[in-house]
Amino acid sequence: MQLTVDGLQVQVADGATVLDAARQAGAWVPTLCFDERQAPFGACRACMVAVDGTPKPVPACTTLCREGMVIDTNDPASRRVARTVVELVLSELPSAPAPHTELAQVAARLGVSGSRWSGAVHPVDHDLRHPYLAFQHELCISCGRCVRACDEVQGAFALTAVGRGFEANVAAGIGSGFLESSCVSCGACADTCPTDAITERLLLDGSINGGPPPEAPRLRERR
Ligand code: SF4
Ligand code: FES
Repeated sequence: MQLTVDGLQVQVADGATVLDAARQAGAWVPTLCFDERQAPFGACRACMVAVDGTPKPVPACTTLCREGMVIDTNDPASRRVARTVVELVLSELPSAPAPHTELAQVAARLGVSGSRWSGAVHPVDHDLRHPYLAFQHELCISCGRCVRACDEVQGAFALTAVGRGFEANVAAGIGSGFLESSCVSCGACADTCPTDAITERLLLDGSINGGPPPEAPRLRERR
């Protein structure tokens, strides 16, 4: 089908999403809960765009294309929503995300350097029991990508989304941590995490371990 993205005509296959069309047109749409290796989740609302004929911005990652659609990825209202989403997310973190993380890069590209809200922040809570993976729970933005990576990509079902609202987070196993869960050390969760809440221990700065990163072999290859 044919549609228009930011004035450009693009052809997309049936079943394509607005995000697919935008990317095909070379347009940038901010995303936080999206990973192209996973089914769209539609949780973060960072990816809003305007579509002619719809009264409000729509989420690009979960909206299917229609013939003749006219999409504006630079719509000011959509960008305001995205900035607000990112500001809210940042307001809950005890420190700014590391510059290399996807969250930091999305924030920078949106021109968000901090949050105007100074509410409650997640308490620092590190699970360092696993030899290869570290979980810094306070950096979790509940995007669900690690859970889906574990379920859809690896089929290990080691991670579970827990809590709601500000309390939302991810638990490994039944709260016992990666070490006693069904984790197979594939690293899919660390690979997709946009904040480094889950990361390879080898990549961590020694500061959170109280010393240099532990000696450990590389994570296993994914299946
Ligand atoms: S640990 Fe990372 S990938 Fe998992 S929900 Fe939290 S921020 Fe998202
Ligand atoms: S990227 Fe679309 S809702 Fe999160």
